[in-house]
Amino acid sequence: MSDTRANKRFRSQEWFDNPNNPGMTALYVERYQNQAFTREEIQGGRPVIGIANSGSDLAPCNKIHVFLMDRIKAGIRDGGGIPMEFPVHPIQETGKRPTAALDRNLTYLGLVEVLHGYPIDGVVLTTGCDKTTPAMLMGAATMDIPAIALNGGPMLDGWWKGKRAGSGTIIWESRRLLAEGKIDYDEFMGRVCASAPSLGHCNSMGTASTMNAMAEALGMSLTGNSAIPAPFRERMNMAYETGKRIVQMVLDDLKPSDILTREAFENAIVVCTAIGGSTNAPPHLQAVARHAGVELDVKDWETVGFDAPLLVNMQPAGEYLGESFFRAGGVPAVMGELMKVGRIHEGAMTATGNTMGVNLAGVESQDTDVIKTCAAPMREKAGFKVLSGNLFDSALMKTSVISKDFQERFLSEPGREGVLEARAIVFEGPEDYHDRINDPSLEIDEHCILFIRGVGCVGYPGSAEVVNMQPPDALIKQGINHLPTVGDGRQSGTSESPSILNASPEAVVGGGLAFLETGDTVRLDLGASRMDAVVDEAEWAARKEAWSPPKIESQTPWQEIYRTHVGQLAQGGCLELATAYQKVREALPRDNH
Ligand code: FES
Ligand code: MG
Repeated sequence: MSDTRANKRFRSQEWFDNPNNPGMTALYVERYQNQAFTREEIQGGRPVIGIANSGSDLAPCNKIHVFLMDRIKAGIRDGGGIPMEFPVHPIQETGKRPTAALDRNLTYLGLVEVLHGYPIDGVVLTTGCDKTTPAMLMGAATMDIPAIALNGGPMLDGWWKGKRAGSGTIIWESRRLLAEGKIDYDEFMGRVCASAPSLGHCNSMGTASTMNAMAEALGMSLTGNSAIPAPFRERMNMAYETGKRIVQMVLDDLKPSDILTREAFENAIVVCTAIGGSTNAPPHLQAVARHAGVELDVKDWETVGFDAPLLVNMQPAGEYLGESFFRAGGVPAVMGELMKVGRIHEGAMTATGNTMGVNLAGVESQDTDVIKTCAAPMREKAGFKVLSGNLFDSALMKTSVISKDFQERFLSEPGREGVLEARAIVFEGPEDYHDRINDPSLEIDEHCILFIRGVGCVGYPGSAEVVNMQPPDALIKQGINHLPTVGDGRQSGTSESPSILNASPEAVVGGGLAFLETGDTVRLDLGASRMDAVVDEAEWAARKEAWSPPKIESQTPWQEIYRTHVGQLAQGGCLELATAYQKVREALPRDNH
């Protein structure tokens, strides 16, 4: 299969070696050779490898990549390629307002434009923080030049007073303790900051660790890439090996379209269940699939993934953090255990040039306290439920974080197990929630469900992580730490709350949530995967009739462009017009002078 340089003409040679237009060739060559490259390098028939650098001061979760660049470049050069690093628009989950999710599609657009418009034959995608990984995979899928993902890796484990302090997860716990008056503000800040002890992304199984596991499960990275902690020696080695490998992928013309198949996505869905992965994985993978032209439906998350087991004992679904996960074997060990029981499509092609089955041969858990076997999992049937009803066409519920307490309190009425009827309390966004959650006139008790709307892709804009709402302080003081919550936004992947989220279509575009009123009875039937407002049909129709869309005001040009073109979370929250562009590499851009 291996091709050699001698009989291969690269895309970059259309810039650097085009006999039909010598003037342009000279213009392309002179500026690149005046700084970092010689003419021999540029015109020597070697593939040019772009390195999409997502790290910066503004993007601390990915800043490790700034320090990995030398090793990536060394690998590319030793592989026979020419490395060209370039920046991508930053997406910092904890920094960007109103939400980093708004920028996923902007980074995607920028990446596609760079890959299309510059002399690049293959690309290293530096991933890490939540949305950086899907943005890069989406761009690679659209462009379809050889591409390989390199994670920056999780931070070291956080510790607070002898206990593991996991990214994000500790915030949700600590804000409850603060509300109960059990800790003061200084202790609150101390606990939260202790969870971030080094370079790297979140050390819990939040969206960052999940999405990097997804990249690996899809076959888009080298085996074992995703779980290596950022400061470890193995991370440096992985950067070098990834750089070396992408050159051979270009020589072999191993493209995303060879790797991102329906089977690859099914592997990723099953792995997402096994790791207790983030509720953000479905929209992100939907988006990657759509840009790759692969049929994937949000309901596939239940039909393919619900009956898979939870194997990884890592926060928020379990107790450990990234260092333990890595030492127990990381994603290859999880996939190896799943492969033993026939849950992995072994024939799926991967960035290594081998199939998943070959990559994983003989790999298994190195510590069954952290990565369980399928014979003795953390939980059976631990995937997402994909609910529908008159409030939405689809919404997700992560069953692996339904605690015993939550199960007993809300879903265990004798004879009606899995069924809950409760009174709706409706908030118009997070500001309204914070203003009114402790308002005694709402009479919120344990027979209530908290709803939040107006926080989806169009509404927020970008879809905010605000659905995991905390109960009123008074209820928390009575020991009720969770109420069921529902919304058309998302929640943090580090949350241990079994919220019902990503409701699509969202309220501001006329989804059923728009017609719900505080005081309505709402019925959840988990077994039937349904949630409905129990409201008289004529009354519901009258509310629909009387509804008009809210006036939406954007604060930046991008917000307006995004709102005009974005779809719903169930379909990946893509820029709808962008999904029509596939295999963009096949169309060479025109000369620029
Ligand atoms: Fe960046 Fe969690 S906030 S990885
Ligand atoms: Mg988040």
